[in-house]
Amino acid sequence: MQVHIPLKKSVDNSYDITIDTLPSLHFDTKVAIITNPKVAGLHLGYLLSKITAKELYIITVPDGEEYKNQQSVDLILESLFNHRFNRKSLLIAFGGGVIGDMTGYVSSIYQRGIDFIQIPTTLLSQVDASVGGKTGMNNKYGKNLIGAFHQPQAVYIDPHFLSTLPAREFGAGVAEIVKMAVTFNKEFFEFLENADLHDKKVLQEAIKQAVQTKADVVAKDEKEHGLRAALNYGHTFGHVIENETQYKTYLHGEAVAIGMVMANATAVAMGLMQEAEALRIKTLLEKYDLPTTYVIENTQSFYQTFFLDKKSSDTTITFIIPKGLGDVEITDNIDETLILKVLERFTKR
Ligand code: NAD
Ligand code: GLY
Repeated sequence: MQVHIPLKKSVDNSYDITIDTLPSLHFDTKVAIITNPKVAGLHLGYLLSKITAKELYIITVPDGEEYKNQQSVDLILESLFNHRFNRKSLLIAFGGGVIGDMTGYVSSIYQRGIDFIQIPTTLLSQVDASVGGKTGMNNKYGKNLIGAFHQPQAVYIDPHFLSTLPAREFGAGVAEIVKMAVTFNKEFFEFLENADLHDKKVLQEAIKQAVQTKADVVAKDEKEHGLRAALNYGHTFGHVIENETQYKTYLHGEAVAIGMVMANATAVAMGLMQEAEALRIKTLLEKYDLPTTYVIENTQSFYQTFFLDKKSSDTTITFIIPKGLGDVEITDNIDETLILKVLERFTKR
């Protein structure tokens, strides 16, 4: 005997991303703004001048990647239970990618899932982390190993928040913008080459284009069965660099910048990219003071660390290799000797 559950009904998870001055928002439900003391100190007053709700609560968690963990998730959950949040209640992520990922994760598990809104305040979270519904937290086994795909109801990107962002954090966001351009949009890359992202209008346009690029990819492959993996360009190498430097030396976007240079060197070695194109990407990254060099002490150990990547299996490593500018190849079929030869070029001081 068999009982069949037909569950093929498609769900509409569509949502809008507004890139503009934050509009006034009213919610006829309980709302909790999840943030950290730094972002709250700088921008909560502004946010509160824009938001009204039936009941409004502020929940702060400590600032930093090291607090993107179960303890912070528990702290948020406790507060939601104490304030008797229900399935109609709403969370608002107000901060960088750490707050966004954790708020999204909590909203995916609280009473089996409630709505949340992203109001990202770093460049990296505005162009990448707030879009596409990847949520999660870290544990002792690694970064973002626990989580869920849970799309927000809406994303409000207000570039006004970036006025207080430290220069290095700004650069880390630029790296992810360059990533979107190199992988999917040559015209956008050329726009960036000729633009100054410190100009507010130019920055708003770049955010729009980066978000549009990511939105297009997510619409085609929400759960990363294929195409979406291309957004990890620079990350396969970058994650090893972050791991080797114990997450202390580089911001994530900075490690990704070096990782993109390494992926480009691989592309050149494979005949998929011209040396001149690789140089153009390096020049663009350096325009925003992003690091583009790294000294590998031991190429074998660097290579073995690739296997810790979420995209790798026990025996294969998935590489995201650009094909010129604006196109990309996702492959788990690159010869170890070729990669080691490329890595060898990064062993010299
Ligand atoms: P972050 O959230 O740690 O923010 C960086 C620092 O900037 C923090 O100290 C933060 O408090 C501070 N800050 C935030 N807004 C500010 C402002 N307006 N002015 C001054 N300071 C401000 O880091 P991030 O770079 O925003 O995000 C990194 C996180 O995002 C990582 O955990 C990464 O895993 C995640 N991420 C997720 C996705 C995704 O698709 N979900 C994509 C990329 C990255
Ligand atoms: N940041 C990569 C992704 O969202 O898929």
